[in-house]
Amino acid sequence: MPPLTSAAAPATHRLRLWYRRLGRRGAAGVAAFAAALLAAAFFLTPSRDATAPSTTSYPSYGHRLPTLVDLTLVDGAKEKGAVCLDGTPPGYHWLPGFGEGSDKWLLHLEGGSWCRNLTVCGQRKKTNLGSSDYMERQVEFVGILSDDELQNPDFYNWNKVKVMYCDGASFSGNVEAEFQDGTSFFFRGQRIWEAVMDDLLSKGLSRAKEAFLTGCSAGGLSTYIHCDDFRALLPKASTVKCLADGGFFLDVEDISGRRYMRSFYNDVARLQDVRKKFPHCRSDMEPGQCFFPREVAKGISTPMFILNPAYDVWQIGYH
Ligand SMILES: *[C@@H]1O[C@H](CO)[C@@H](O)[C@H](O)[C@H]1NC(C)=O
Repeated sequence: MPPLTSAAAPATHRLRLWYRRLGRRGAAGVAAFAAALLAAAFFLTPSRDATAPSTTSYPSYGHRLPTLVDLTLVDGAKEKGAVCLDGTPPGYHWLPGFGEGSDKWLLHLEGGSWCRNLTVCGQRKKTNLGSSDYMERQVEFVGILSDDELQNPDFYNWNKVKVMYCDGASFSGNVEAEFQDGTSFFFRGQRIWEAVMDDLLSKGLSRAKEAFLTGCSAGGLSTYIHCDDFRALLPKASTVKCLADGGFFLDVEDISGRRYMRSFYNDVARLQDVRKKFPHCRSDMEPGQCFFPREVAKGISTPMFILNPAYDVWQIGYH
């Protein structure tokens, strides 16, 4: 184990306590909890404008079932053309904060790969990843989204929002025309991002003192893409940071010498015209190249925590 800093020490202690209490609940839970702790250590690290973290003691409460949080469909989204692949309005799950967490916000952008052509986007329209008609009406908030102080000691009382992913291109497409292929298609991820943010700003996000944008997998990529946008929406005096979990997709050759991810991203970028979103992307680059975190990250000025396994099982399958 690397030497522990004083900030990380109580976290490790808490992890041990928690692990002993819950016994073998599965690696996924442990990983989610570890991610929450890492995120907490990152968020609570003082930045230029933040004050030092307070030293709180953490009483151990009994283990309880996760809170179920209702789906909210975004009001007025359709009028703004901010719609899922099939034209239904986008949605999110919001668990309001309380106590000292009332003016703190943690947003999580859902993941779920991308769709690269009308065939697979057409299949996606009939799922939760392309239509709010298929989204779950209630989801469990666990890990970094949990409101259980024992499971999520640093963010349990924050406002927490899980933003559902239904555009197929990491919230970054913006095609005006409604594609026709027998049926209609909408590629409006960027507008979905804007409509969801407008809605949350009116619900208190605009008064946030601290805010944290997170996302996993394709949602991790969304986090790279929108981190600075998020910062720009919030009060100047607020502390804003981002965490991309498992979203560092690599632009590398596989053993046969092909670049699978680049050709995948080229298709997504062309279909959804994502290049507009990346004005700093050089014109001699393929459109999909602009979509890799390596390129997107170059322009980010907000504090960003990158969490990625050295052996990402999903990516290894494609390289
Ligand atoms: C669409 O993409 C899928 C993989 O995502 C691929 O298997 C299929 O061949 C593609 N279809 C067309 C028409 O390009």
